[in-house]
Amino acid sequence: MDPDNPFFNAVVELIATQTKMPSSVVEEQLEIPPPQTNADLAFPCYALAKQLRKSPNEIADNLAGTLKPAGIIKRFDAAGPYLNITANWSLFGDHLLKDIITKGNAFGSSSIGNEKTVLVDFSSPNIAKPMSVGHMRSTIIGDALARIYQHLGYKIIRDNHVGDWGTQFGKLLVAYEKWGSEEKVKNDPIPELLSLYVQFHDKAEKDPTLEDAAREAFRKLEEGDPKLVKTFEWFWKLSAESFKKTYDLLNISFDTWSGERRYVAAAKHLTQDALKQGIVKESKGAWIVPLDPLPPLIIQKSNESTIYASRDLAMLQERIKIPNIFSLLYVVGSEQKLYFQQLFAAAKKLNLLPDVIRATHVDFGLMSLPGGKMSTRKGRVVYLNDVIAEAARRAETIMKEKNPDLFTTDRGKDVAFHVGVGALKYADLSRDRIKNIVFSWDDLLSFEGDTGPYLQYTHARCTSILKKGGVTTPPSFRAAALTDTKEIAVLRSLAHFPHAIHRTVRENKPHIIAHAIFDLATAFNHFYQAVPVLQADAAVKAARIALVAATKTVLYTGLALLGIAAPEEM
Ligand code: ARG
Repeated sequence: MDPDNPFFNAVVELIATQTKMPSSVVEEQLEIPPPQTNADLAFPCYALAKQLRKSPNEIADNLAGTLKPAGIIKRFDAAGPYLNITANWSLFGDHLLKDIITKGNAFGSSSIGNEKTVLVDFSSPNIAKPMSVGHMRSTIIGDALARIYQHLGYKIIRDNHVGDWGTQFGKLLVAYEKWGSEEKVKNDPIPELLSLYVQFHDKAEKDPTLEDAAREAFRKLEEGDPKLVKTFEWFWKLSAESFKKTYDLLNISFDTWSGERRYVAAAKHLTQDALKQGIVKESKGAWIVPLDPLPPLIIQKSNESTIYASRDLAMLQERIKIPNIFSLLYVVGSEQKLYFQQLFAAAKKLNLLPDVIRATHVDFGLMSLPGGKMSTRKGRVVYLNDVIAEAARRAETIMKEKNPDLFTTDRGKDVAFHVGVGALKYADLSRDRIKNIVFSWDDLLSFEGDTGPYLQYTHARCTSILKKGGVTTPPSFRAAALTDTKEIAVLRSLAHFPHAIHRTVRENKPHIIAHAIFDLATAFNHFYQAVPVLQADAAVKAARIALVAATKTVLYTGLALLGIAAPEEM
């Protein structure tokens, strides 16, 4: 039950009593009808139809005929296979608006997470390489999920599992030794390290002995050769500092930077153990975990080094020991879909993943950034800092035209920066993460349509109405004064917000929250364009001000859950 939503609870109770379904099942099945439906909740009758061997339409008709609306419930209507339910808004509206106004940004929060620990493995770029667009998506989606889970009372660990182990570091060390300059690497670490890496590949084509040298260097690094370790640590530090600059711009932070190399020793043990237990098999010189019907997971190649998979298994071994651990979210692109299926299946076989702990691959599609595709090998790279700077610069140009006054002080630049970053994040988070995204700067930064700036602008509009009206705390009001369908549409969107948060967590899909606040902003702008707020008669004005204040709060909170700032003025 949702203790804060008496309408929802009344609906659940009536349907559960009538159908003899458990309340928890009814609760889970209740849906938010699409905005054009003139109803507040919808109950799909398919499950019941199956059980009672009747058509869902018949069930919906029966329910609509027998259920008696009373109090906070105004109507039950059958709509095909759905039972639509409408609230008595003069009652529910009072409750809802007061709830939002008193709770402020805690509206929609809950303690359902009960301090259970959720580890979010996200961003995870590779040392000495630029962050890819995929890493950017992981960073933005992972951060949003962490914020959203936190809102529901989960304890969050944000882990940056950087790629800092593998034979490629042998190549880099050789290249640095041969052609590198300390000065150059210090001044511009990532581009310089990348160019050394590219150079290595070019030269190794003609000179195969380089590959041997790289293998040898990596072997020495594994054995702890002090000079190589020192250089490598230096690369690590420079890379992390460079990543942190990007994270700062995005206002994103981590609790831990686990890194693959920390798990090398444990991965060796684990592989040995699995060999002894006979869980792994030899196949063409490699060691594999058979996972029929999935293809087997290779955990050791012929050269005895650890690999990505064995290090991930070793990390899992540590993660399942985290106190109160409940769920592990791996926010990584869809290209690793099969890998994670194999990883989790292998972990089960190796007893590294008890049933009580959920491990989820939160996968996402490709994104093509405006400004072209990346290719690290060919040195065609888009640096995320440049993308962020470009977004801010473009936002500034657009906003200077719309609101030149804002730029008479430093504030303008600041606001433009938040609009640019917000636009970028929102473009990512507003689409179902599994879809590929192609977008242009113009779409991204438009002040109309489903964009970050549109939502931020609507929030700023709410702020300015309240300011103009000289209201800091909304006056006492009666929601009964809100009778226009456009006002009801706003109330309805406000009421949906907590549901959107719960569904987002159920599906690990932040776009559900993005849609909820976009619908709210749309409903709000229709309302605002149709009726006066500050010029209305006293009772209506008071209620409309409360509606504006509640909308401002929910837009702010929704954007904050997505990691997007909402400036007061735009
Ligand atoms: N560094 C990896 C990459 O860039 C992502 C690591 C994801 N996390 C994990 N536990 N495997 O592809």
